Amino acid sequence: MKYLITGGVGFIGTNTAITFATSIKNSIVLVDDFSRPGVKLNAKYLTRKFANIKIIKANVKDTNKYLSELKKTDVIIHLAGQTAVTTSITNPTLDFSSNIVGGFTLLETVRKYNPKAAVLYSSTNKVYGNLENHDLQLDKKNSQYKDMCHPMGIDENEQLNFISPYGCSKGTIDSYMLDYGRIYGLKTIVFRQSCIYGPFQIGVEDQGWVAFFAKQALAKKPLTIFGDGYQVRDLLYVGDLIDAYSKAIEKIEKIKGNAINVGGGITNSFSLLQVIATLEKKTRHPIQLTFNTERPGDQKLFISANKKAKKILGWVPRTSFHKGLDILLDWQRQYLFNQ
Ligand SMILES: NC(=O)c1ccc[n+]([C@@H]2O[C@H](COP(=O)([O-])OP(=O)(O)OC[C@H]3O[C@@H](n4cnc5c(N)ncnc54)[C@H](O)[C@@H]3O)[C@@H](O)[C@H]2O)c1
Repeated sequence: MKYLITGGVGFIGTNTAITFATSIKNSIVLVDDFSRPGVKLNAKYLTRKFANIKIIKANVKDTNKYLSELKKTDVIIHLAGQTAVTTSITNPTLDFSSNIVGGFTLLETVRKYNPKAAVLYSSTNKVYGNLENHDLQLDKKNSQYKDMCHPMGIDENEQLNFISPYGCSKGTIDSYMLDYGRIYGLKTIVFRQSCIYGPFQIGVEDQGWVAFFAKQALAKKPLTIFGDGYQVRDLLYVGDLIDAYSKAIEKIEKIKGNAINVGGGITNSFSLLQVIATLEKKTRHPIQLTFNTERPGDQKLFISANKKAKKILGWVPRTSFHKGLDILLDWQRQYLFNQ
């Protein structure tokens, strides 16, 4: 099979490329503009390890730079884009250009030149906004917010509510992907992803917070918490996300046109403070914390119900947060601290 992955040397892209490149029958083309600081490290690793991976340095908008590859591909996984809510607020034009113009241009190019390809899109749980109609209560004893209406998580029937330019740009292409499936018959599928973590994630304060917290903990550096730290996220190990991608590709004819929530689910839901406590135990070192005001667009809680993913893909997350965090910490010790 031929795969084209936009944003391919980023965190999820690198892990996806490695998974598919392990079969020598597959060929993988990665398109990335290298705008994310640190991803050169991922590109170097991929080029050294895999002969069947080709990297094209290009903005996703410049489809002419990879059109010949796009025309031949069986599967397109669209991951490229501006990924931080904070950056989207300070620079909404960049966010619009990267996520909306980039995503739309790619989709139009697929429609014109390769409408038979499967197209997977990495959307986000941010399309559901801040769940203001839910009864979210603070359970201080357990250091986390609780959703009294949906204790088992949020499904795809939840009302869309784009908050922050990032929420708007991701949500716009989420809708376009589904509509290009309906109107033009493209084989699109949308993954509304919760918080993903794992190796090859170059976490920074603004995005990739689990990797950033872990890196700071290993380096014995302090952390700033924006908000009260009781915010809850369901954390999904990247290998499990790729398992969902693989299952979707296998079943694309049956499941095309769907949007699916994928997250760590209720069993892998933790507040920021709980993750910090776990890191302190694993690194055997206390982390110095400073608290700052809550960031705009930040959700108090998100937990994916994963019911639809189980029903139509036969997918459930398999990696516990404790196991996944150990894998991330091992990778950080090996790569990030030995450059
Ligand atoms: N990591 C998460 O927790 C998470 C959660 C929900 C959704 N997502 C989505 O998944 C996708 C991948 O996320 P990630 O965590 O791997 O992020 P990442 O930043 O590690 O990867 C994105 C890659 O895209 C590249 N890129 C950015 N703008 C580009 C452009 N205009 N043209 C070409 N390349 C460009 C970057 O250089 C980077 O390598 C993103 O679209 C993100 O919105 C991620």
